[in-house]
Amino acid sequence: MSVKIAVVGAGSGYMPGVIRGLLHRAADLAGAELAFYDPDAEHLALMTRLATAMFAARGADLTVVAHTELKPALAGASYVFTTFRPGGMAARHLDESIPLRHGVVGQETAGPGGFLMACRSVPVLLEIADVADPGAWIINYTNPTNVVTDAVLRHRPGTRVIGLCDQHVGDTEMWAGLLGLPADGLEADWIGLNHATWAERVRLHGEPIDLPARLASLEIPGGGATPWRDPSRMAELAQALGFLPNSYAKYYFFHDEVVAELRAKGTTRAQDILAMLPGYYASIAAEAAKPDPDPSRERGGGEHGEFAVDVICALHRDEGRRIIVNTRNGGAISSLEDDAVVEVPAVVGRSGPVPLTMGPLPGPVRGLTRAIHEYERLAADAAVTGDRRTALQALMAHPFIRSKHTAERILDEGLAAHREHLPQFTR
Ligand code: G6P
Ligand code: MN
Repeated sequence: MSVKIAVVGAGSGYMPGVIRGLLHRAADLAGAELAFYDPDAEHLALMTRLATAMFAARGADLTVVAHTELKPALAGASYVFTTFRPGGMAARHLDESIPLRHGVVGQETAGPGGFLMACRSVPVLLEIADVADPGAWIINYTNPTNVVTDAVLRHRPGTRVIGLCDQHVGDTEMWAGLLGLPADGLEADWIGLNHATWAERVRLHGEPIDLPARLASLEIPGGGATPWRDPSRMAELAQALGFLPNSYAKYYFFHDEVVAELRAKGTTRAQDILAMLPGYYASIAAEAAKPDPDPSRERGGGEHGEFAVDVICALHRDEGRRIIVNTRNGGAISSLEDDAVVEVPAVVGRSGPVPLTMGPLPGPVRGLTRAIHEYERLAADAAVTGDRRTALQALMAHPFIRSKHTAERILDEGLAAHREHLPQFTR
């Protein structure tokens, strides 16, 4: 039976990677209808042309239908893959710059920047949950993926949703390099919360690695650290902690250094991306016109698209594959509540992800991770209700923020700057 897969945010710069991901599983998805949806008609048309040309060139039995209306795009879809950024890069620039003015790391998913993004993302995901067919799976990349997943699960009970992030793939590769191990066959039990995961157990082709011994002899790489490239900082952290931190750990353990670096840098990541996007889209348009397009891998070029399509295939084909996803804890991580949304290895088959029992969080980051969880829960509630006091409590609960007045200033500036995207706060 053929299947319909809707893609929400199909004009995104990450789409060439998603199209590649679909191609890599084309045989398993043969006959599928892809409903590409984006309110941005121009970029939607571009990605539709690109996908159609790439599928034709490789003989893939996949059909693309473009939609600028949400309802017909989702009607009859068994899988709704969400990969959009409400407000685009202009809104991301505000998320990254407002906290920084108040001495707090400005980042799109971590801290108050991520909180503001959650306030924009959550209402759209709730609408998608309302519009999607009952029983459809929402496979969500929209950030902050765990807060969004938590909001949908608690405020639209019965919705089937999985939060995705492919960060652990890149992080595992980075650690392979730092630890002098081959990346192929290396597997780490990353557990915790999205962009706040930790790994005490690492295996190479199933054989446990003696991590404490490896870390004891780890050489801190030279070249220094910046907000974007920081293997030396990661190595330094791992030696202190005694296990592997994910790459967002720098924002917690080097908060003030990163603030100084971000300020010195002068432009935000969003501004840097905005500057490259016109040329990037132009190059995609040129490729889409070729008989066998090979679009740029500059955005989402690595595992990003393949990872998402693998999750869809694991559900659709009842594969029972072990995949790291964001889902209800259900006791998998004993240090967090059963109904917390956690990032954890899970077995994914037709009935959804079943998280694997992982035990407690490592002691040195247990308190931090629990604090981030409390923040995330408040953030999800604030994003749903638009209640200012809950929003203030969320920011006051976040480990980056050490003053009520700082929380208030960031909140007031953020809500004002994003007013048009935050109907729940202005009602
Ligand atoms: C990583 C994170 C994603 C995030 C992305 C931003 O992949 O896991 O959650 O959206 O980085 O990348 P960018 O190139 O837009 O800064
Ligand atoms: Mn991520």
